[in-house]
Order: sequence, then structure tokens, then C-alpha cells
Amino acid sequence: MRLLVTGGAGFIGANFIMYWLTAHPEDEIVNFDKLTYAGNLENLASVEKNPGYTFVRGDICNAEQATHVMKGIDTVVHLAAESHVDRSILEAAPFVMTNVVGTQVLLDAALKANVKRFHHVSTDEVFGSLTLQGTEKFNEQTLYDPRSPYSASKAGSDHLVRAYHHTFGLPVTITNCSNNYGPFQFPEKLIPLAITNLIEGKKVPVYGDGLYVRDWLYVDDHCRAIDAVLSRGKVGETYCIGGLTEDVNNLSIIRKILALMGKNESEIEYVKDRPGHDRRYAIDWAKIYNELGWKPEHDFDTWLEKTVRWYMDHEEWWKRVKSGAYAQYYAKQYTHTA
Ligand code: NAD
Ligand code: DAU
Repeated sequence: MRLLVTGGAGFIGANFIMYWLTAHPEDEIVNFDKLTYAGNLENLASVEKNPGYTFVRGDICNAEQATHVMKGIDTVVHLAAESHVDRSILEAAPFVMTNVVGTQVLLDAALKANVKRFHHVSTDEVFGSLTLQGTEKFNEQTLYDPRSPYSASKAGSDHLVRAYHHTFGLPVTITNCSNNYGPFQFPEKLIPLAITNLIEGKKVPVYGDGLYVRDWLYVDDHCRAIDAVLSRGKVGETYCIGGLTEDVNNLSIIRKILALMGKNESEIEYVKDRPGHDRRYAIDWAKIYNELGWKPEHDFDTWLEKTVRWYMDHEEWWKRVKSGAYAQYYAKQYTHTA
């Protein structure tokens, strides 16, 4: 099988390519990535000489490039996106362009190339926000209620993917996944930001009261879930993917990281809250478990510890990532303390 992975130089994309080439050594992967600030080919150093792996630099918004790269492809795994909520609040336009327009351009190219499957990697954020007091979880029937420019643009892309299935018969599947963590995550996201700040002797910025809840999944579990959907999922269906955590708030996560790194609470800095900050996410992953036999296998405490260790052991990787343009973004995003 020949796969096109979009956004393969990013966090989940790179982990997915490494996972897939190990799990399916007979397959070929074309990684199509624009290499934005979040794309980093160093993430893929371990596979760059693998004969089954090819990199093509390009933009999913460019119809000519998308059509060209789609030739001979059986399966598309579409991960390319602008992915950081805070950046979408600073500037929404690139999110609409890549996540909405780029997805539509890619869908057209996939249709023309007659691909056997177009798998769209989406987020639980399209469902909006749950209350802290409640026990309900998002599932495949939850109505869309996106509340940030990022989640609105991902919701738009999900609707387009379904529209191309219903209108043109494109064989699609969609997954809506919760917060991933693990190696090679860009250190603008909470967990790698906290770990790398602490190594650098900086404080950890906590938004608002820190009592926001996310559902955390180790990135390899996400890769296995996409594999399950590609091999056993039903065309036209959506699957929700989540982890094993039960309502762990951001402060608890920071406290776990502080303890693992031998630091104390004086390293926490309460900063201005994210505008429109969603309170709580939780995922009911019963459908993918019952129908495809997938379940998360990595427990949070063990794999958070391994993740902390990974960033401690890979300072060169994240120091290069954190220099340059990232420094300007950081200065702009974290100007106000609470
Ligand atoms: P990331 O920001 O680390 O990587 C995104 C990648 O897409 C980068 O390599 C970037 O260069 C590439 N890209 C961006 N614009 C492009 C364009 N126009 N054309 C081609 N390539 C482009 O993102 P991530 O965290 O790995 O997320 C990957 C996907 O998974 C996204 O679609 C995101 O919405 C979704 N998702 C992420 C999470 C999470 O916790 N990180 C959870 C659920 C879903
Ligand atoms: O739920 C899935 C989503 O998870 C993905 O679709 C997104 O691509 C991914 O970025 C992630 O979004 P979040 O906004 O949940 O992730 P982030 O790491 O930015 O923030 C996690 C929580 O931590 C959130 O409540 C905001 C808070 N936070 C974040 C940062 C960067 C802080 O308190 N301080 C910070 O400095």
C-alpha cells in the first residue's frame, strides 16, 4: 500500500510515520509537508534512509502540488494543520487557510486520484466544552460546538470531509482525538513547554486558575487507533479516540512534572487566561473499542515520566526548536501575568 501522510513532519505525523514503517514495513509512505514553524524533518531522522519513505515539501492549499503528490496513492492520512489554539487567537487567517481551504483542496485531489481511503485526523475540540461539575463525555453523537478559531476551522474541515463522502462518494473516515503527549511535540503545548521551561530555569505559565481538564493520550496510542480505523474501520464513519485519564486538571499535571523533576510549586506562574478557554474535555471511546477492538494502552503516570525523561535526554532537539521565531511568539503570547 502507498500512503500519503500530510503534516508528517509535525508531532503526531512524525510519530505516525515511524510507527507505520515499523508496523507495516511492506508499505510506502510519502510525507507531504509545508514545513511551517511546526514542521521539523529532524523528527524523522531515524527513517530518512528507509527505502519506503519519501519526503515532498509542499502546501496542501496548492491544488497543483496536491494533485501531483496524490498520483499512485491508495490511502491518505491527513494530519497537516495549524494546530495551536493560542496562535489561532493571535491570528486566525492561517487556520482558515490551511485547515479549511487546504482540506478542501486535498479532498479534490483525492477524488481525482480515486484514492481508496481518505482518513481525516481531527480533534475533540470541535465538540466545545464540558462543565467541571458534570460527568458527561464527548462521543460520536455529540453536536458540534467549536469555540476557538482553531476548533472552528477543524470543525469546518470535518464537515467538508463528510460532504465529499455524501456528495461525491469519496471513501472517508474521521477520528476525533483528545490531547496527545509524547516525544517530538512542539514545545508551545502545555506538557513540553512545562518540561523545557523547567530545564531552562524558567517558570511554568498556568492559564487562569489551572483547573481546566483535558483527556490525555500517549501519541503511540493515537497512531494505533488510526491504524485500527484504516484496517477495520467502516467508510463514512467517525470514531472518537481518548485516553485513560479521569479528569486530571492542568495544575495536577504541572505538579506531577514538578515532582518528577525535583522542583517545587514556586516554579508555577499564574498568567492571564486564554480567551474563551474550554473548561473540560472528556472522551467516550466505547465505539472504537467495541467495533474495532482498540483501547489506550499507555497509562498517564508511567508515560508522562518517560516523556519528561525524553525531553531531558533530547535538549539539542528542543533547544533548536525553541530558538528563533519561537522566541518572538513566546514574548508575544506571555506578556501578561495574572
Ligand atoms: P503540529 O502542529 O505538530 O504539526 C502540523 C504539521 O502540519 C507540521 O509539520 C506543519 O509543517 C504541517 N503543515 C501545516 N500547514 C501545512 C500546509 N498548508 N501544507 C502542508 N503541511 C502543513 O500538529 P500535531 O499536534 O502533530 O497535530 C496533527 C494533526 O492532529 C492536526 O490536524 C491536529 O488538528 C490533530 N490533532 C492534534 C492533537 C494534539 O493533541 N496534538 C489532538 C487531536 C488532533
Ligand atoms: O484536545 C485536542 C487538542 O489538544 C488538539 O486538537 C490541539 O491541536 C492541541 O494543541 C491540544 O489543544 P489544547 O489547547 O488543549 O492544548 P495546549 O497544550 O495548548 O493546552 C492544554 C491546556 O493547558 C489548556 O487548558 C491550556 C493550558 N495551558 C496551555 C499552555 C500552552 C496553560 O495553562 N499554560 C500554557 O502555557
